[in-house]
Amino acid sequence: MSEFNDKYAEYLDGFNTKLNGFCSELDCQPEILCESLKYSLLLGGKRIRPVLMMATGDLLGADRKKLYNYAIALELIHTYSLIHDDLPEMDNDDFRRGKPSNHKVFGVGNAVLAGDGLLNTAYSLLLEQCYGGKECISASKYMCDCAGINGMIAGQSADLLYENSKDADESALEYIYENKTAKLICAALVVPSILCENKYCVELKEFGSALGYLFQLTDDILDVEGSFEKLGKSTGKDEKENKFTCVSLYGLENSKLKADLICDRCYGILDCIKGDVSFLRGMVDNVRTRIN
Ligand code: IPE
Ligand code: IPE
Ligand code: MG
Ligand code: MG
Ligand code: MG
Repeated sequence: MSEFNDKYAEYLDGFNTKLNGFCSELDCQPEILCESLKYSLLLGGKRIRPVLMMATGDLLGADRKKLYNYAIALELIHTYSLIHDDLPEMDNDDFRRGKPSNHKVFGVGNAVLAGDGLLNTAYSLLLEQCYGGKECISASKYMCDCAGINGMIAGQSADLLYENSKDADESALEYIYENKTAKLICAALVVPSILCENKYCVELKEFGSALGYLFQLTDDILDVEGSFEKLGKSTGKDEKENKFTCVSLYGLENSKLKADLICDRCYGILDCIKGDVSFLRGMVDNVRTRIN
């Protein structure tokens, strides 16, 4: 295994242990509510956002213990966004993380509530962090904003708006990618910076934007070329649902060229950061060449 893969596995392991601990203390009634929250949360997933956050924390020298709580909050928010994204009135996807989507198992009503429950639990955790001092308040607020109406929600709203649209252009695509995907990835990179006196905040925000764009670009490419077995979700859905994506705008080959250009932008930004950015560089390659 390469050094990058070893390091990724180490971060993943550390995070999953913390998340399991957090989940074992989650208790709510009725039973179906608790079960549905944990079903989506513990199904698996790449955990790229928590891994990025912990790695960035190590780069900047952040307090790991503090950061784990932010990483859990971020994964709760991301998982809620996936449950809602799969709903019949959104992307209508039957599979997620290799298993039937939350609403296929628990029904639409319960899936809406599971998503709401995860978001609410994340906010409670973020509020709790505020006892840690001013920088913790700023970090919590930053993550809320990334998830909210000027962040992921705005991107998801635009994603729906441009479904079936004939007049969507490059700036609409950038708006969608930046908000629905890049904002939560920015949260992973910027929260550690806020906790470390805003060290490299500008560079990490830029990097998050570019890496988030690349991540959605490769997601859209994989929807065309990927396999269900590896991705754990249905493929060919974007075309079927007339989604507005990089592939629908530029075509598949041009989307790949664009992805390569964005990799160069990512490397260029990392060059401005002093310190060992090899893991973040590896993450760029990983996102570009991923199959899941
Ligand atoms: C899927 O995110 C949604 C997008 C932003 C494309 P991930 O690909 O990170 O999903 P999991 O967490 O690994 O399942
Ligand atoms: C990202 O876009 C969705 C979220 C921000 C939740 P997609 O709708 O393309 O993600 P997948 O392909 O369903 O994972
Ligand atoms: Mg979607
Ligand atoms: Mg979707
Ligand atoms: Mg997709």
